[in-house]
Amino acid sequence: MTSQKDPARYVGMLGGGQLGRMFAQAAHSFGYRTVALVPEEQPIIADVAQHITAEYTDTVALDKLVAAIGDAPVTLEFENIPVKTLEYLESKSVTVRPGIRALKIAQDRRLEKTFFREDAQVPTAPFFILEKDDDLKNEQLVSFSFPAILKTARDGYDGKGQVKVSSLDELAAAWESLRKVPAILESFVTFDRELSILVVRGADGDVAFYGPFHNEHEDHILATTWSGMPLADATVESAYELGQSVVEKLDYVGVLCIELFQCGDELVVNEMAPRPHNSGHLTIETYTASQFEQQARAALGLPLAPAVMRSPGAMINIVGFRPSEAALQQIMALPGVHWHWYAKDAIKEGRKLGHITLEASTFEKLEELFVEVKGLLKS
Ligand SMILES: Nc1ncnc2c1ncn2[C@@H]1O[C@H](COP(=O)(O)OP(=O)(O)O)[C@@H](O)[C@H]1O
Ligand SMILES: [Mg+2]
Repeated sequence: MTSQKDPARYVGMLGGGQLGRMFAQAAHSFGYRTVALVPEEQPIIADVAQHITAEYTDTVALDKLVAAIGDAPVTLEFENIPVKTLEYLESKSVTVRPGIRALKIAQDRRLEKTFFREDAQVPTAPFFILEKDDDLKNEQLVSFSFPAILKTARDGYDGKGQVKVSSLDELAAAWESLRKVPAILESFVTFDRELSILVVRGADGDVAFYGPFHNEHEDHILATTWSGMPLADATVESAYELGQSVVEKLDYVGVLCIELFQCGDELVVNEMAPRPHNSGHLTIETYTASQFEQQARAALGLPLAPAVMRSPGAMINIVGFRPSEAALQQIMALPGVHWHWYAKDAIKEGRKLGHITLEASTFEKLEELFVEVKGLLKS
């Protein structure tokens, strides 16, 4: 028998939290080693990937990353990676997926909302951009529909950097409370529920869709995601249509999550995340290919896998605590339950520490399982 060398295959990751970790696990299953660049000394990705500890803009560290992965592409786990980092990597002929344009737009609600309305032509809540004192006197505000939410243009997450504004009279003080940073005023949408979809676009332009999922938040943090609930075909179609328009107008390659408000038959686009999303974790067990496998395929320029729902699913986020060992014993013994623990260094309030995915043959059975698991989590 002759022996032939099988060269090591690599992929780069910017970030090293749970999303990066689940990505590395997926890429690893088809033989790719992830090398992550992360600011933390002990990122949780370190258990499953190599990593370089440095700031994202440290060019010496970026050179090390490039040296470690050769000509392999790089992907990312969160949207606030500095654009400079991507520019530097591209100047070294490294392919970064998703690319600079998508990241720039997703980092700034002004660009994002304007992109949705003008380029992708998808429905959004009425909005107004606030950048300077004079903007408060703009006559468009007189007819603006209140109540509204004022959101900082940059760096908001989990409801941070947002204030409710009941009427025009409250706007100046609300903006003051956000230290007058560039912000966007959005009319309040009275929605029936919050949905999300994942749209994956491969390097060849092929597109796969997941969802819509139904998301429930507690304290502005995602608490539960439902998949496979009854939903009108027309709603699913319009979600996918708007998703297609967004990824095409962005010339996007990778996994994109779009958050939506469902108001009767209408869908209103809220925001997007240019990466796998917490609401997509249930794709690991309840779809034919997970969002992380698709991210790896798209980043590496491989064909996408078909995204077919295998069963209804639910995801319970574990935020700020670890269930008792007794509860875990019982939960893990239930059929259709998948326990994920991210093994972070500390248990802290408001921190996403793990999740539980539930699957069942029907949505009704899923709801029963959900009630059972929620009860055990409290014990
Ligand atoms: N225009 C709006 N109308 C009604 N609710 C909103 C609106 N914008 C945001 N929200 C609520 O606030 C949550 C957080 O807002 P979002 O824009 O998604 O910011 P982030 O997730 O980055 O904190 C949403 O999931 C939704 O529940
Ligand atoms: Mg959001």
